[in-house]
Amino acid sequence: MCGFALNIQAQDAKPEADPKLAIRAGEILRQNCVRCHKGTGSESGYAFNVLDIGSLADEGVVVAGDHGNSELFNAMFSGRMPPKNRPQLPRPSAEDVEAIKNWIAAGAAPIPAPEPRPVIELKSELLAIQKHLQDASRDDRPNLRYFRMSHLHNDPKVDTGTLQTTRIALAKVLNSLSWEAVLVEPKAINPEQTIYAVDIASLGWTRDHWNAMLKSYPYALSYGSLDDSSLKDIDDDISDMRRDQSPVVVRADWMIAVASKPPLYYSLLFDLELPELVPRRADPKNPANPKSMTDADLEHYLGVDVIRNFLSGKAVRSGYTESGVSGQNRLIERHPLKSGGFYWKSYDFKSSNRTAILSEFPLGPKFHDNPFNDLAFEHDGGEIIFSLPNGLQGYLLVDAKGNRIDAGPIEVVGDSLKTSGNEQIVAGVSCIACHRVGMIESPDDEVRLFSGAVNDARDHVRRLYPENDDFRKWLEQDRRTFVNSLQRAIEPFVHGETVESLPEPVGEVSRRYHLEPMSLETVAAELHVEAARLRGSIEADPKLRELGLRVLLRDGGTIKRAAWESPAAFPLMKQTARQLGFDPR
Ligand code: HEC
Ligand code: HEC
Repeated sequence: MCGFALNIQAQDAKPEADPKLAIRAGEILRQNCVRCHKGTGSESGYAFNVLDIGSLADEGVVVAGDHGNSELFNAMFSGRMPPKNRPQLPRPSAEDVEAIKNWIAAGAAPIPAPEPRPVIELKSELLAIQKHLQDASRDDRPNLRYFRMSHLHNDPKVDTGTLQTTRIALAKVLNSLSWEAVLVEPKAINPEQTIYAVDIASLGWTRDHWNAMLKSYPYALSYGSLDDSSLKDIDDDISDMRRDQSPVVVRADWMIAVASKPPLYYSLLFDLELPELVPRRADPKNPANPKSMTDADLEHYLGVDVIRNFLSGKAVRSGYTESGVSGQNRLIERHPLKSGGFYWKSYDFKSSNRTAILSEFPLGPKFHDNPFNDLAFEHDGGEIIFSLPNGLQGYLLVDAKGNRIDAGPIEVVGDSLKTSGNEQIVAGVSCIACHRVGMIESPDDEVRLFSGAVNDARDHVRRLYPENDDFRKWLEQDRRTFVNSLQRAIEPFVHGETVESLPEPVGEVSRRYHLEPMSLETVAAELHVEAARLRGSIEADPKLRELGLRVLLRDGGTIKRAAWESPAAFPLMKQTARQLGFDPR
């Protein structure tokens, strides 16, 4: 009886199953699965597309009405999917798994395409900025800047989850580039919440910070030659109010993806902040991103004396052989900051390094006056995480000598997810993506137990390398500091979700920005025009076809972000914009 009733329900439910379940299922599958399961040619090697119920049924991964026999549900329920070895990736919550179960049980209705959103016109954006400046006090106006994501809103391929992730990432990146103690909240200035105002002074930024961004910003346009002259008038009024001609708005997704990695990440976080670096920056032999910064510069600025803490035993350490990152031997070390925060440093070793056997060489690194130099390792590089005054984290990568480097050696560690735009592990976004909830639990220390050191050296090993439980407490305490601060930073943009439950937003936005192929709709949205108009222009204008845009007219035709932004001197984006009547800036 019961089975019969269920059967009928499943059969009946199929055509008109609750559309809300399918919408929710779509959100979950988009967020957690689609990157690797979007049909033939996907990263997973499987042919099903998680958003296409037809293909899920054809490939036998979903049996409508029978979640127990649906591989899609089982893979999530067992925790097998998404793959566990990818800490950067979002994971579905227990409620999400339950929602997938309910969706399949109720007949697995087709997942609808995201609702189209009404387009936000360029003019309404400019008017919103003008109004915001008019309402601000004269003294504040020169410090106001704007981050926009209207082009994402206007792109029908972008779902609402991505818009929310972008807002959260904006708050996270800005506060990760601030040395102020107080967290800064970007404030939406239009009803659609696609333009955010920030008082850069509250981030501790000056005009130099903004200009450093503009220098590499490929999307600045002005409107003098457009048919609608009112756009130029509003823009001029904006410049007049600020007493500054330079662009006042940049794209949020660009900023999130580009200011979270060197060179811009280092410029904003260090070069414009650490007083010692300012004169070095002027050195003509070190133009753009000077490698003349060392870990010692940062330690000096933070008031951390690594050597003294080593000698006094104030530092705490853990050494182990099977790092989850490098697969090689590794030593990690914590120093306290006077502000109550932390300075974590890893000492990394190449596999060929003889001193990497930490139980034999536990008391490195070698330095003049190290009383234990005969037991001192010599490391090949290091990774640093420190707390910022607002509780978020800063990151630095260094070589064997402590010199700042942009990326880890690719032969040692690579990121197949290409979070930074390619496989390199870079300072900033790569660290942010993996350390999404701060400190990561490391394998057990092997030095305290297995070191062969004797006498003074033995005592010193015991001071520096605590019992595992004591060491874990530091990791846990610092993890909580970060998560609590980050939760406060993103609170205005979430609806009950937590840092732990959400995917890591900066890596998400960065991967999407760099890697998502650009369709006609995306290109059109980035150029403030409708897709139909862009299509017409490409068909009619031989210059646009010469630029290589004809491929966008093909069904499924795309171009790559890197091509869109090159050459740096006059990117394809600007060449195209000019053909459409804009003045590239
Ligand atoms: C980082 C890429 C990645 C993500 C994200 C991912 N998968 Fe997979 N998936 C794979 C790979 C690779 C395989 C094949 C290898 C394997 O079975 O481990 C696979 C296999 C599968 C299979 C068939 C084999 C099996 O284990 O049942 C199912 C079903 C599946 N994934 C569902 C999902 C679902 C549902 C999600 C989202 C909750 C998801 N996957 C997220 C990469 C991914
Ligand atoms: C692929 C993921 C991944 C990336 C990318 C990554 N880490 Fe880690 N990190 C880990 C894991 C896992 C641990 C735990 C210890 C271990 O397994 O070695 C860790 C530990 C650390 C530690 C010791 C404190 C702790 O959390 O246990 C520091 C310091 C550190 N990482 C710095 C960095 C910096 C700086 C970057 C960016 C350049 C970075 N990491 C990028 C995965 C990553």
